[in-house]
Amino acid sequence: MSIQTVMVVGAGQMGSGIVQVAAAAGRKVLWHDLTMPFIDKGMLVIRKHLARSVEKGKLTVEEQTSIIGRILPTEDVTDAAKVDLVIEAISENMAWKTNLFQKLDRICPPGVILATNTSSLPITEIAAATSRPSQVIGMHFMNPVPVMPLIEVIRGLETSQDVFDAIFQLSKEFGKTPVEVQDFPGFVSNRILMPMINEAVFTVYEGVASVEAVDTVMKLGMNHPMGPLELADFIGLDTCLSIMEILYEGFKDPKYRPCPLLRKYVKAGRLGRKSGQGFYVYA
Ligand code: CAA
Repeated sequence: MSIQTVMVVGAGQMGSGIVQVAAAAGRKVLWHDLTMPFIDKGMLVIRKHLARSVEKGKLTVEEQTSIIGRILPTEDVTDAAKVDLVIEAISENMAWKTNLFQKLDRICPPGVILATNTSSLPITEIAAATSRPSQVIGMHFMNPVPVMPLIEVIRGLETSQDVFDAIFQLSKEFGKTPVEVQDFPGFVSNRILMPMINEAVFTVYEGVASVEAVDTVMKLGMNHPMGPLELADFIGLDTCLSIMEILYEGFKDPKYRPCPLLRKYVKAGRLGRKSGQGFYVYA
């Protein structure tokens, strides 16, 4: 199963990172979002990152030009009929995702693989909304996508071996290390990461230590590149809360209950870097 042409749906931070990685790996990438200004904004981010790589001598100007040339923005979702693989990277909303997958299922010829970059929604449920559950798979990239070497490749209940093998191989050709994961709440990454972040929030909530102290312990004591609270701000506190709710709901185990302080911050609109304030304040 050769995957040469890819459509990425969604022009947020994850979508633009995936587009950059796929185009750098020589794939023609159709980039779809509902309106062109979203894609234009994402394109600026990609151009900035590529320009930085050229300045650092990691990329030639010719390579930069050909990567950009392989990215084709489109407002027309029916262009999905022209690709071998669609990677969905829209907001984490099950109704929006199932709606999109049903649309893609109608548009794409048989054989086209539909992948989701969801960080925590069940692949099996998204797949069940289509008439091709064997061709639906999870492809969970980490943020920032161009930098982080991991892709969790998540098998839905019905995902075929051929589709799994094709996505595993493609992930390697994207320059990443794929890891096979089964479809259970939080997969592996967020099942382990989010309770750690939640526990860091509890540590502050209970007055054990300050935000800075918690992050310093984990950075200097455990060699984490970012402390858990800095990382929570980077990911988005609303995303962290929503993943904790999915773990809590999925396992019905009180160890996954979200910290009240995390809930309070989200209710207040303190969502982390993207809103200008979370556990830290951003300029
Ligand atoms: N996009 C592209 N490149 C980026 C980038 C971005 N957003 N941010 C940083 N980089 C690049 C820089 O250009 C730099 O490249 P060079 O090595 O070529 O110079 C490199 O990354 C290192 O960047 P910096 O020197 O500016 O900063 P740093 O050394 O502090 O690293 C970091 C920044 C890579 C983000 C690092 O702090 C880190 O690894 N943090 C942890 C990130 C993490 O845990 N991500 C997973 C989040 S969880 C997730 O994604 C799953 C989920 O479902 C929630």
